[in-house]
Amino acid sequence: MPTKIKLLFVDDDRFMRQSFVELILHYEYQIMTANDGRDALEKLENYPADIVITDIVMPSMDGLSLLREIQARHPNIFVVVVTHSSRIEEAVKCMRAGAYDYILKPFVFNSIISVIEGIISVGRLPENGRSRRNRRLGGSDFFGIVGKDQAMKAIYRQIDSLANTNANVLITGEAGTGKEITARAIHENSLRKSRPFIRVNCTAMTERIANRRLFGQETGAAPGPAAVEAGYVEAAEGGVLFLDAMGALPLTSQASLLQCIETRMFRRVGGTRSVKSNVRMFGATSRDLAKQAKEARFREDLLLRINVVSIHLPPLRDRLLDIPLLIDHFLEKFNARARRRISGIRDDALEILQQYPWPGNVRELANVIENAAIFCRGRQIVPADLKEIQRESSGKRIHLTLSSWSLDHAEEALIRGALYETRGNLKQAAKTLGIARGTLYSKMKRYGIERSR
Ligand SMILES: Nc1ncnc2c1ncn2[C@@H]1O[C@H](COP(=O)(O)OP(=O)(O)OP(=O)(O)O)[C@@H](O)[C@H]1O
Ligand SMILES: [Mg+2]
Repeated sequence: MPTKIKLLFVDDDRFMRQSFVELILHYEYQIMTANDGRDALEKLENYPADIVITDIVMPSMDGLSLLREIQARHPNIFVVVVTHSSRIEEAVKCMRAGAYDYILKPFVFNSIISVIEGIISVGRLPENGRSRRNRRLGGSDFFGIVGKDQAMKAIYRQIDSLANTNANVLITGEAGTGKEITARAIHENSLRKSRPFIRVNCTAMTERIANRRLFGQETGAAPGPAAVEAGYVEAAEGGVLFLDAMGALPLTSQASLLQCIETRMFRRVGGTRSVKSNVRMFGATSRDLAKQAKEARFREDLLLRINVVSIHLPPLRDRLLDIPLLIDHFLEKFNARARRRISGIRDDALEILQQYPWPGNVRELANVIENAAIFCRGRQIVPADLKEIQRESSGKRIHLTLSSWSLDHAEEALIRGALYETRGNLKQAAKTLGIARGTLYSKMKRYGIERSR
């Protein structure tokens, strides 16, 4: 790099400023200090800093106000906020306002250097222009995500606003709503996009396996050379670690992960040396982690570190207008793959799909369309092509052949639908169907429908 990276360190505590300068002197950075937000803004007029590292609580102008002023006046500066570890909520607030990263006091100096190096490595790559908000293809495709529903548009805006930060993100939503595709979109739209995106499925791992997979291991007799096996955290270095189904992570692994986030260091299983780490963490869950935390099944402090920004994906049944767009999208993919030319779906078939509750959300829709396309003989999908709409009900999968629906089939489907809508409440379901509860019960028995969903 031809010119030295310029840092501005803002803190009202003289001792903090001194120790920071002393630390930085060992590195090839240019450094200036300021004692509050106002002072910082004045200095920035003549000192084009690349990175501002600022305390949050300061007299005169605090870190959050300074952040906002910098965003307005010098949008290319990376802002890193510093706060005491007992007040992490303040850091979270700044991250949500667009700070690039945060550092907790008392300082682990390594974490400051790691943050600075992280910014330099991702922020200065020539192909990584900042804030590339022009990636939207057409009106309805955003990094492969299809949907024009208000809720989806809000999600695109959120992804955009995350483009220049290093914030950890928690993505919530029912199964198949698009959590992974959203995580990938955030990564694609971020400064780390040319770095790895590593997905780890947290389900069904014992503590030992989880720790080994996440942090790797070192084997071999001391003092000889150890055989090193890298884990996911190491594989994701410089990029993103996507913790899928995060709620299932064993508690001890949660503790190690928390430590890794806090200190930006980790240790391989069986290892003695700490390894530096610069990884952004995304979590995905279909569970209520806050509730799990209250029941001591998930670490509240880890939740706080991952849930700096949260994105919630609404179920497909709440974005019915997106169904036709998604159908077109999946048909287009199918046509390309199978060399077919199915042009769309007939209104009556669409209506069936719009009335279905989609417990498996977009993933299920994709499957249904793929199946329909396989059966489709004409240019359009018609109801007879919807050979199977899979409905998970009472853990039992039923296949409805719409083209040969008997009255019994229809009745069974209606009952399952009513039970689904009422979440298994017999009284309500009977009311919806306009029959007595006893009648409903005997019909359920006849069709082998379980009482609970
Ligand atoms: N809005 C969307 N536009 C286009 N494709 C989508 C959209 N949402 C989901 N998909 C597709 O549906 C499938 C499921 O999405 P994804 O894997 O992201 O969901 P998920 O929430 O992670 O699911 P699970 O909870 O089962 O892990 C994928 O094939 C994905 O590409
Ligand atoms: Mg997923």
